[in-house]
Amino acid sequence: MDKEFAGLTAIITGAGSGIGLEVAKGLKERGATVYGFDINQGEMGSVATFIKCDIGDGASVDSAFAEFKKTSSKLDILINNAGIGSLTTVEKETDEIWQKVLNVNVVGTARVSRGAIALLRESKSAAIVNTASVAAIDGIPNRAAYSASKGAILSLTLAMATDHLSDGIRVNAVNPATADTPWVKRLLDQSADAKAARVALEARQPMGRLVSPSEIANAIIFLASPLQASITGTTLNVDGGLHSLRIPK
Ligand SMILES: NC(=O)c1ccc[n+]([C@@H]2O[C@H](COP(=O)([O-])OP(=O)(O)OC[C@H]3O[C@@H](n4cnc5c(N)ncnc54)[C@H](O)[C@@H]3O)[C@@H](O)[C@H]2O)c1
Repeated sequence: MDKEFAGLTAIITGAGSGIGLEVAKGLKERGATVYGFDINQGEMGSVATFIKCDIGDGASVDSAFAEFKKTSSKLDILINNAGIGSLTTVEKETDEIWQKVLNVNVVGTARVSRGAIALLRESKSAAIVNTASVAAIDGIPNRAAYSASKGAILSLTLAMATDHLSDGIRVNAVNPATADTPWVKRLLDQSADAKAARVALEARQPMGRLVSPSEIANAIIFLASPLQASITGTTLNVDGGLHSLRIPK
């Protein structure tokens, strides 16, 4: 395995599960020192140093960075991956749901980035990767607040890439389609027939299968890599063709 991240330090939000956990494993294998900011340690074990952090809460983010700085004086990579979902239409979505989803997904991404920028500015290999979703660019039913939050993450990615170009900080995003993570398992478990719901999700994918968390992690790692120093302001779809392909049935 190429140790392209040797000597680099990374923070991953939501590293305790799913996509974030796979990014943590992949960065560690490639030589990075990895910190996981999460509300739960989850499964990160010895893959990442767990720092308790609720990205939806400013004081929690501040204290997580204070904790981080006790053991690390440098930061090269920030993966803004933690997020929450919501399953309703605009007709049913309450102000509380809007505030919660936008606060965690959008403001949370901005909050953690705010804590990281000064450190990233000092790095020669600074990169931020934000996890958005195909829900940002494709109409998916019952995802009003979630889709809007992920669309905002794409706009924020461009704004941050522009603002911090001269700081040498690259900022990119990924748009995963439905991925085989605990998040999706929880969604399926809520439906009357989890097996049938999974078959329907698979059928929606042109490739006929869900995206694997490691495939998304590999795309995030590609964008974060010091080997890709010319890529900034880019969104990479990791969606099995969902966004762009029209397959006749
Ligand atoms: N799974 C999918 O199908 C899919 C598709 C597109 C985008 N995404 C996005 O990928 C990201 C990760 O999703 P996943 O499927 O790996 O989910 P997951 O539920 O497996 O993991 C999410 C992690 O984020 C943490 N987290 C949740 N709220 C947090 C908070 N306020 N502060 C800090 N950590 C918090 C959880 O504790 C958990 O460890 C999310 O942003 C999600 O929107 C997922």
